[in-house]
Amino acid sequence: MCGIVGYIGERPPLPVLLEGLRRLEYRGYDSAGVVFFAGGELRICKVKGRVYDLEEKIFSTAITQAEVPCLGHTRWATHGEPSDENAHPHFDCEKRLAVVHNGIIENYYSLREELIQRGHRFFSATDTEVIVHLIEEYLREGEELFSAFVKSIKRLKGAFAVALISKDEPDKILCARYQSPLIIGVGKGENFLASDIPALLPFTREVIPLEEGEIAILTRKKVKIYDFNGQAREKTSILIYWDLSQAEKGGYPHFMLKEVFEQPEVIKNTLLGRLNLEEKKVDFSQEGLNKEFFEGLDRIYIIACGTSFHAGLVGKYLLEPVIDIPIEVEYASEFRYRSPKISEKTLFIGVSQSGETADTLASLRLAKEKGAKVLSICNVLGSSMTRESDLILYTQAGPEISVASTKAFTAQVLIFILLRLYLQSLRGHTYDGEVLERLIELPSLVRDLLERSYPKIKEIARKWYQAKDFLYLGRGILYPLALEGALKLKEISYIHAEGYPAGEMKHGPIALIEETVPTVVLSAKEQGILYEKTLSNAEEVKSRRGPVIGIVSEDAWEFKRLCDDLIEIPLTQYELLPILYVVPLQLLAYEIAVLRGCDVDRPRNLAKSVTVE
Ligand code: AGP
Repeated sequence: MCGIVGYIGERPPLPVLLEGLRRLEYRGYDSAGVVFFAGGELRICKVKGRVYDLEEKIFSTAITQAEVPCLGHTRWATHGEPSDENAHPHFDCEKRLAVVHNGIIENYYSLREELIQRGHRFFSATDTEVIVHLIEEYLREGEELFSAFVKSIKRLKGAFAVALISKDEPDKILCARYQSPLIIGVGKGENFLASDIPALLPFTREVIPLEEGEIAILTRKKVKIYDFNGQAREKTSILIYWDLSQAEKGGYPHFMLKEVFEQPEVIKNTLLGRLNLEEKKVDFSQEGLNKEFFEGLDRIYIIACGTSFHAGLVGKYLLEPVIDIPIEVEYASEFRYRSPKISEKTLFIGVSQSGETADTLASLRLAKEKGAKVLSICNVLGSSMTRESDLILYTQAGPEISVASTKAFTAQVLIFILLRLYLQSLRGHTYDGEVLERLIELPSLVRDLLERSYPKIKEIARKWYQAKDFLYLGRGILYPLALEGALKLKEISYIHAEGYPAGEMKHGPIALIEETVPTVVLSAKEQGILYEKTLSNAEEVKSRRGPVIGIVSEDAWEFKRLCDDLIEIPLTQYELLPILYVVPLQLLAYEIAVLRGCDVDRPRNLAKSVTVE
């Protein structure tokens, strides 16, 4: 997720761009850049670092005669590590065009090869740069700017919000939106564009959100909008009454809730480029993962902390049945000090949103030192863990601002689901297309579940937000979810909560059951015998007058008669259960924390990334 801004009008361009970028930094902040006119030429100034560093660089180069049109960008790297070269904007070969982009170009590799064949020189490792060279190629073939732009964006696969300025047509900005937001700001004798509303608020409250498959041409006086076939479209503007804080959270009260509701988008972005529907298989070729990577192994460790550890535990349940190698999942803080057995036949899988967690990084280094192969599942390009791994699978969750990890967890689990399908195909198992179809449907499944379950979750939260203790129970692949639900609740609402394998009840936890201690029970019909077993555990709780909150498959009538409260989850493929069952757990923790007046996004004593022991 990145931030784009653009401006054409009478104001001095650089202050407009910098103010807009500062207000979009929550969308990405590993590098930033601007492009503007100076003496009839296009000038780019860009830098690895924050918008502040860009500002420093601009003013240290004493740029005075900056002119419009102009574009700015703050980056969250998806392809190509954070660096000055990989920062946006990007030039074509002749520096007559400049482009900024937010999203992921799924077919960038083949486009890049084709353009290199045609003599284009690339200056970065980004997927974005193929866009500006593609436009240049169509101009070389005699297209005029608008049709070169339209033809180019129609060849892109994936998600993109793109903005372009051209030395040869300095009176306009062209931009397009497909699966990444882009909003036009309408002024008097001036017009703006941005990835999100906060960047526009200092200048205008009149906006036109572009819809999927729309193109806009901005001049000082006009905004013209077209579809991807070049057909003009009439649009009406809307007035925004949000303040900045509301706008940065997209109108949500907290970043955590915004990020919970971003999960459908994150699932889509994490799947991009990794599903080959024609051949019905998972494709990690862009990351360089192949069957040799898993050969010659005798042990796999999945090492992480906190929520990432829970995702790793889900990974064990997903991978162990499809690979003949034992998998151990362990907290990094324990792993690093217990002299674990490691050799060159060991695969170490590190899971981390930040890629900077001290214990996980230390564990990775220990494993590497002893000859292990290292695979990282990480959300931050260029983070320490990714620099020291043999192979990286990025989670494409975008910046996760709230301390409580939600969308990153979902993306981590999704990577393990894809790895399971990949390993199955390596064993010649041609899983039916069903699971791929269900993966494609997953974003809308999660969106429906969010919308449908939220009102019920609010009711349950109002009933139990003053409880002193919570128990979370699950079996099999839903046991890590019980741990995650308990962690979410305790870290943002400060209520004591424990996750347990449901089968463990009789070995101690059942002593805790009483009328004031709600037990959240997770169970899915897709689990087969474990569904029945968990039902018995729920009955053990109920028979001791413990309140039971069931998060179970829809039409689980056995649970319906038993539970005090019930959230029903649609039936799906076994592999996808954790992605659906975590949603109500995240919402329940959030709603209870809000009712308790807690600082949801910045819980006491916690940091977003624990970079110290
Ligand atoms: C999860 O909600 C917490 N913020 C915390 O447990 C977190 O998952 C843990 O610190 C690991 O962070 P990482 O994923 O960045 O390594």
